[in-house]
Amino acid sequence: MITSDLSIIRERLIQGDLIGLPTETVYGLAANVFNSNAVSAIFETKNRPTSNPLIVHVASLSHARALVNHFPEKAEQLAQVFWPGPLTLILPKNKSVSQLVTANQPNVAIRVPNHPTTLSLLNQLDFPLVAPSANPFNRISPTTAEHVDGYFPSIYTLDGGACKAGVESTIVGFEGDEVVLLRHGAISIEAIEAQVGRILNRTSPSADATLPGQHKKHYAPSCELIVTYEPLFMLSAVKHKKIGILWYKAVKIKSLQVDVNLVLSPTGDLEIAAKNLFATLHTMDRMGLDLIIVERLPAHDLGVTINDRLDRAATK
Ligand code: TXA
Ligand code: MG
Repeated sequence: MITSDLSIIRERLIQGDLIGLPTETVYGLAANVFNSNAVSAIFETKNRPTSNPLIVHVASLSHARALVNHFPEKAEQLAQVFWPGPLTLILPKNKSVSQLVTANQPNVAIRVPNHPTTLSLLNQLDFPLVAPSANPFNRISPTTAEHVDGYFPSIYTLDGGACKAGVESTIVGFEGDEVVLLRHGAISIEAIEAQVGRILNRTSPSADATLPGQHKKHYAPSCELIVTYEPLFMLSAVKHKKIGILWYKAVKIKSLQVDVNLVLSPTGDLEIAAKNLFATLHTMDRMGLDLIIVERLPAHDLGVTINDRLDRAATK
């Protein structure tokens, strides 16, 4: 059920229900961080392992401070620059945050989302919201209220329009004086390094996923997906019946073997490509294709984030 009525959403959250929450990155499946039944329901509803911790969404930096023991100097600096916005900080939690939320870790993930409706909702509540992306585990993240409603029709989703960034927040942690990148996201490494200097990159996905949330397979459509710099070269090697190609800037050549050609960002703007990524994959997923071939993006700025999502979507 999709609604624009904030009072319905507020009431549902106070009652301990889950709701679909718009943010500037992707839609979240949100609940009261202090209600353990509601937090458990998030893991069940998403079919998400309880070993994968949740991000806490707060209205402001001072609300974030209320959940942590210590705010490292560089975290403070990044929060000042990027909040509200798509940057999640991993910080030492205090007792107010349950082990269920953090999957038994001493740290909690926190961000201030940059979405006007969601910020006013957070300001009307006397608790923060935990919200993982509102997709079943491993599936494509939702960037519209309709996507969430398609996955979870029985819960209320707050309509906040199409997400502006279209990919999840960038996640960073802190080790001593070092900033450590844990997930590529809507803020590029370049933008973070412009603020705090060189950062350590610990994002490489591993099948055994020693760090939470680094599962190799993720964001996947229901059919097979291949990522390559040369989509047309793949065609001679595959025997699929209904093929779609997702191009970066333009359809290079139209092949008769291909049923659907779509383009991510006609101007080549990487932010537009990021905004369109999941929505286009949702569209292609509904076309009954048996193979999606995606042209790999240039490996800089948000191209790195998009390629990361595509590589995970392609993992079998
Ligand atoms: O943009 C976003 O971050 C979206 C919107 C809804 O805010 N949320 C989102 O949540 O992407 P989710 O649950 O799909 O991804 C959260 C990631 C997971 O990879 C999780 O493992 C990691 O954050 N994470 C959460 N808490 C953590 C912690 N304490 N330490 C390390 N990683 C953590
Ligand atoms: Mg997710």
